[in-house]
Amino acid sequence: MPETSSTPLASAPADAPEVLTATRLWPPMMQALRGAFRVHDRTHLEDPAAFAAVAPRIRAIAASGESKVSRELIAQLPKLEMISVFGVGYDGVDVAAARERGIAVTHTPEVLNDEVADLALALMLAVSRRLVEADRFVRSGQWVKGPMPLARKMSGARLGIVGLGRIGVAIARRAEAFGMSIAYTSRTARPDSPYPYFPSAEALAAEVDFLVVITPGGAGTRKLIDAKVLAALGQKGYLINVARGSVVDEQALVAALLGGAIAGAGLDVFESEPNVPKELFALDNVVLTPHVGSATWQTRQAMADLAFGNLQAHFAGRPLLSPVPEMK
Ligand code: NAP
Ligand code: 8YV
Repeated sequence: MPETSSTPLASAPADAPEVLTATRLWPPMMQALRGAFRVHDRTHLEDPAAFAAVAPRIRAIAASGESKVSRELIAQLPKLEMISVFGVGYDGVDVAAARERGIAVTHTPEVLNDEVADLALALMLAVSRRLVEADRFVRSGQWVKGPMPLARKMSGARLGIVGLGRIGVAIARRAEAFGMSIAYTSRTARPDSPYPYFPSAEALAAEVDFLVVITPGGAGTRKLIDAKVLAALGQKGYLINVARGSVVDEQALVAALLGGAIAGAGLDVFESEPNVPKELFALDNVVLTPHVGSATWQTRQAMADLAFGNLQAHFAGRPLLSPVPEMK
């Protein structure tokens, strides 16, 4: 297992700042943390008595994109100065509660754009060209009995992107190479974008073959993709979700897939991870991945370096490398 380039060789001195991890973190990131800080690994979840003893000394939280850092947790940490998220999404962090206390919040934008965009295109190809089903077809010996049913062409099709931000733009650039026509929706139109803007996900869904969701999670986007949007996408349309499970009404999605209201789905994120609706397991027109948008060695390394770099910068009194927009 490679170490992060930021991994110090010595272990942390006794007077190093004390850091709580909010969730299980990538091992090389943990190694880097343990080299520089006194780390309390998920103590609030694993050992409440020990947590009560260390809470007054915790100065930072190291979290991931999936972590919950609630107002209640923040309130238990009187010396908390910063929350460093290993991930670009920070919908699990109560940023308002952090701001009220002057606690800095950082995340890892940009370094994972390529990886998440690659996965979005991979899911689009996987569902339309029936790749996972085709693999099962060969392995189960069905090929010798006859050919597989035909798939759907992706090149040249119409793509709708819900959330044309850093990753959305990376998805659009890749889709251009497939000769796709591209349109998007977001709360505000981007004057710098060459693609047509639609004022709502429903209006966009009605005009495309593939609808890719890549907004932040949280209250502002909860169930943005609901039964109406799925109905507008229609029986020939595919939904790809690489954003957060909360952005899609999962019950409505299951119903749409079971009833044939949409053609299929490629899903990397779910409402209650790692739990996935069991109804999806039997469906050949659905490709499921376990929240692996950024999950390569190269990208996790870059994320670890940035998340760790933010902690180092804070404790060295230097400007933060990548504070969340609410802090700027
Ligand atoms: P970003 O640059 O901030 O882009 C977010 C986009 O969503 C913007 O275009 C924004 O435009 C739009 N948006 C926000 N709220 C919206 C709403 N209510 N309705 C419609 N559009 C809305 O973020 P990013 O770096 O591309 O990352 C996007 C998200 O991807 C992350 O927050 C995270 O949840 C997810 N992600 C998933 C994985 C994975 O492993 N699957 C990995 C990384 C990131 P407006 O502000 O104009 O609305
Ligand atoms: C990771 C993510 O799953 O960046 C995000 O928002 O969801 C992903 O990159 C993550 O943060 C690592 O656990």
